[in-house]
Amino acid sequence: ARLVVLVSGSGTNLQALLDAIGDDPDAFGARVVAVGADRGSIAGLERAERAGLPTFVRRVKDHATREEWDAALAEATAAYAPDLVVSAGFMKIVGKEFLARFGGRFVNTHPALLPSFPGAHGVREALAYGAKVTGCTVHFVDDGVDTGPIIAQGVVEVRDEDDEAALHERIKEVERRLLVEVVGRLARHGYRIEGRKVTIQ
Ligand code: GRF
Repeated sequence: ARLVVLVSGSGTNLQALLDAIGDDPDAFGARVVAVGADRGSIAGLERAERAGLPTFVRRVKDHATREEWDAALAEATAAYAPDLVVSAGFMKIVGKEFLARFGGRFVNTHPALLPSFPGAHGVREALAYGAKVTGCTVHFVDDGVDTGPIIAQGVVEVRDEDDEAALHERIKEVERRLLVEVVGRLARHGYRIEGRKVTIQ
């Protein structure tokens, strides 16, 4: 399978995928063919360039409307003919055009146990709420914010001494493994989505 990975930051989830694929994409069942971002000068793009991968950046502020940005992002992604698009720390909500093209084959990873704590501050909100366990969720993206059908989740305990950064780092250790496992299985075995139920063959 051909993967396009979308990033907005440090790209450690992207790196986990690249490391897992290594020099045997056939064994993994997928290869990353391009990395896209909503902003420049981020470590995620440097990781892609170090891996010799094509990259593209589509900034919202460079487009007259959000819809035009969405269409431009979809166009740039489609140029690489992905079988699966992976949002790995991509911090923008895509729109109708992107979902029309990639809905059903667009996966996101979120650092909380959805439906708890959706949105851009899931780690901070779980901590502030006093949750005793939190974790990460890999799900298909639908037209909501972190509301699509759940594929897999991982549980992480919250410790009394945690601050947001420490908790997020512990979540990311589980998240990177979960994302690699899920993407590999989706790519190797194929899958079905029926309503909110995901079945991996
Ligand atoms: C991940 O925890 C992701 O779930 C969240 O932001 C983090 C991105 O980390 N949205 P990285 O860029 O993959 O290191």
